[in-house]
Amino acid sequence: MNELIEIHGLNKTYKSGKLENQVLRDINLEISRGEVVSIMGPSGCGKTTLLNLLGGLDRPTSGSIFLNGKSLNDMNESEMTRFRLRNIGIVFQFFNLIPILTAVENVRLPLLVSGHDHHKTRERPLQLLDQFGLLDKANRMPYELSGGEQQRVAVARALANEPSIIIADEPTGNLDSKTSADLIDLFNMINDESGQTFIIVTHDSEVAESADKIIYMRDGKIVGEESRKRRDKTVDYYKKVEKEKITYLLNELDDLYISHMISRELYEKWRSQYLEQLIEMAICENIT
Ligand SMILES: Nc1ncnc2c1ncn2[C@@H]1O[C@H](COP(=O)(O)OP(=O)(O)OP(=O)(O)O)[C@@H](O)[C@H]1O
Ligand SMILES: [Mg+2]
Repeated sequence: MNELIEIHGLNKTYKSGKLENQVLRDINLEISRGEVVSIMGPSGCGKTTLLNLLGGLDRPTSGSIFLNGKSLNDMNESEMTRFRLRNIGIVFQFFNLIPILTAVENVRLPLLVSGHDHHKTRERPLQLLDQFGLLDKANRMPYELSGGEQQRVAVARALANEPSIIIADEPTGNLDSKTSADLIDLFNMINDESGQTFIIVTHDSEVAESADKIIYMRDGKIVGEESRKRRDKTVDYYKKVEKEKITYLLNELDDLYISHMISRELYEKWRSQYLEQLIEMAICENIT
C-alpha cells in the first residue's frame, strides 16, 4: 500500500427512528503522501461527514478507511483517539479554540494530552506561533485576536503533534479573501516544507484551485476528480522577470528612437516583436 489514505466502498447512513438517510454512497478514494486535496460540493452532499470519518470522529456504516496502512475500522475508541492525536490534525471552520486558554496554551494542549516531554511541550507551541507571525500574541486570549489570527492559532494547534494528515473543514469560511489567501499560502508553505498531506473542504474556488487535486462531490458520491499541476512558484518568478525584461527593452527602444539612434523602420519592427511576446505571455497565463 503506497497511498497514505485509501478509502474503499465507504457508506454512511444516518438513522433517526424509521427514517434512513444515506449520506455517503460507495466512496472510493486514494490520496498520496504529501498531496494537497480539496473537496468541493453543494451544501449537504456529505463533505463534513466524509472528513469526520477520515478523522475517526465518526464510524462508517460500511466500507473501509486505511490511513498509513492501518485500518480505522479495526481500532477501538481509545486506540482511535491515540491514533488521531498523533497522526491527524483537524482545523474547523469556526476555529474551535478553547476560549479560556491563551493562544499558546491552545497550541500546547495536544502536546500535553499526548504526553510529550517538558521541553517539547514548552518550546514547540512558541516555535509554531513564531513561524506563523504570532509570537507577540502568544499570551492573548482568543477573543483578543482577529479571525485570521485565531485561525492561524488553530492551524498551529493542528500541527503541534506533527501529524502526517491535516484535515480542514472550510477553514477559510469565516475569513475575508485576503486573510483566506494568506491561510492557503501558509498551508502550501507547510506542505512544501514538511510534505504533510492536506485535505481541505471548501466552497471557495480559489482555495480549491491552489490544491494538487480537486474532488467534486454530489449527493454523497464522488462525481469528479481533477488533478492540477500546482502553480510552480519558480516558473511564476521567471515569467515575471521575463515580462519586466521585455518592458524594460520597450522603454530602451523608445529612447533609442527618440534620440535618433535607430530608424523608424527598425523601431517599429522591434517594438512589434516585443509586444507580440508580451501578448503571447498574457494569453498563456489565461490558458494555464
Ligand atoms: N449526525 C447526523 N445525524 C443525521 N444526519 C446528519 C448528521 N450529520 C449530517 N447529517 C446529514 O447528512 C447530510 C450531509 O451532511 P454534511 O454535514 O456532511 O454536509 P456538507 O456537505 O458538509 O454540507 P455543508 O457544505 O453545508 O457543510 C445532510 O443531509 C445532513 O443533514
Ligand atoms: Mg460541512
